[in-house]
Amino acid sequence: MIAGWHPHPGQQAFLSSRAPVRVLACGRRWGKTEVIAAEITRTLLSGAPRQVLLVAPSQEQALLGFERALEFLHRAGARPTVRRTPAPTLTLGGARLWARSAARGGMLLRGRKAHLIIVDEAAYVPEAVVSEVLVPMLADTGGQLALISTPRGKNYFYRYYLQGQEDGIRIWSLRSPSWHNPLLSPTVLQMQASMMTSRQFQIEYGAAFLDAEGQVFRTEWVDRALLLRLPAEGWVVAGIDWARYRDYTALAVVQGAREGAKLLAVRRWYGLSWAEQVGAVAAHLRLYAPARILCDRTGVGDPLLETLQQEFPHAEGVAFTQTLKQSLIENLALMLEQGRLQLLPDPDLLRELYHFEATPTARGVRLEGATGVHDDLVIALALAAWALPTTATGAIRTSGAVRRPQFPQNVI
Ligand SMILES: Nc1ncnc2c1ncn2[C@@H]1O[C@H](COP(=O)(O)OP(=O)(O)OP(=O)(O)O)[C@@H](O)[C@H]1O
Ligand SMILES: [Mg+2]
Repeated sequence: MIAGWHPHPGQQAFLSSRAPVRVLACGRRWGKTEVIAAEITRTLLSGAPRQVLLVAPSQEQALLGFERALEFLHRAGARPTVRRTPAPTLTLGGARLWARSAARGGMLLRGRKAHLIIVDEAAYVPEAVVSEVLVPMLADTGGQLALISTPRGKNYFYRYYLQGQEDGIRIWSLRSPSWHNPLLSPTVLQMQASMMTSRQFQIEYGAAFLDAEGQVFRTEWVDRALLLRLPAEGWVVAGIDWARYRDYTALAVVQGAREGAKLLAVRRWYGLSWAEQVGAVAAHLRLYAPARILCDRTGVGDPLLETLQQEFPHAEGVAFTQTLKQSLIENLALMLEQGRLQLLPDPDLLRELYHFEATPTARGVRLEGATGVHDDLVIALALAAWALPTTATGAIRTSGAVRRPQFPQNVI
C-alpha cells in the first residue's frame, strides 16, 4: 500500500493482530514511529469514517508520527487536508487523524470519540491519561488501543504487557529488542552499548522491564507523584543546573513547602552560550518570580550566577560537595516516596528520574544519571526541592506582617 515500505517481522506481527488492545514493548530505533505511521495510514485509507488519535508524551513526539503518516499517505497516492495549528489534524474523506500531547492530564482530549488510539512512548504517558481519558473515548465505538514504548520499569505499561502475555486475545503483546530491526546497523548498536551502563542498554535497546537495584527514584513513587492533586499555593522557589561543556542547562520551579509541594515548570536547553543560558533562565524566572533561587556554582557556575544576580540579587550559589549532593537527592527521594511532591509528566524528566542511579564506591555512593543519560533536570529539581521552606508559612503572621518563610539554614 505504501510504495517502497515493507514492515520487518516484528512490525508485521503488530500490524497483523486484530486484538482490541495491542502492547508493543521495544527498544530504541526499533521502528516504533514507522509502524505507528503505517498503522495510521492503513486505517485512514480503509475508506471508513475512522477517527484516529495519536498521543505522545510531548507535542514534538506526537508530531513525528503525524508527519511520517502524512508522508506515507502521499506515497500511497492520497491527498489529505492538513492543518497544523492550533494542533496537527489531517482529514481524508470522512476519516480523521489528530495528534496530541498527553500533557496537562490529557485535558485537551476529553469528550471525544475515537476508533483507534495509538500511544507512542506509552510508558512515559501517565496511567491516568490512558485509563481515565483514552479508554473511555473508545467505549462507544468499540475501537482499538495500541500502546507502544520502550519500557520504564514495572509500571502500568508493564502490567498491560503481562496481561497480553497471559491473554493474547483481548490484549496482544510483544516485547522486541532493537536488534530485531534488521535495518539497524550493528555498529550503531555497539556504539550505543559502549556509551551506557549494561543495565541501561538492556532497558533502552533490549526492551527489558527492569526496576533494578541502584535505581534511586522508584517508578511507583514517580507515577504516584504524577497523580497527586495538590493546590498551587505557598512559596515559589527555583533550582538551576548550569550546562558544563556538552550538558543541558536545566531549570525547575516548585511551589509549596517540603511538607507538600508542586512542580510548576521544568525546562532544559542545550547548546546555548553562557549569555544565552542566563537569558533563557531569566526569562522563565520573570514569569514565576521565585522567592528563592538556588543554582549550582560548581565549575562554570560562578560567572553565570553573578550575571543572574544582576537581575535577581537574591539568587544563591551552591557548591556541590558529595555530601551536599547526597542530601539534596535524599530529600527529593524522600519527598517522592512520601507523596509530598507533585510532578509534571515531562518525558525528559521521567527518563532522567528513571535512570538516576546510586553506585556504591570505595568512599560512599556515587549518585548520578547512568552514563549516557543526563541528570540535569533531576539536579535542578533537587535544588528547587531543597530551596523549599520546611513548612507552609504563608498563613503565619507576626504583628500583622507576613513573615518570610523559614527556609532551612543548612543549605550552603
Ligand atoms: N520497515 C521499515 N522500513 C524501512 N526503514 C525502517 C523500517 N522500520 C524502521 N526503519 C528505519 O529505522 C530507523 C528507526 O525507525 P523509527 O524512528 O521508527 O524507530 P523508533 O523506534 O521510533 O526510534 P526512537 O526510539 O528513536 O523513537 C529509521 O531510520 C527508520 O527509517
Ligand atoms: Mg520514535
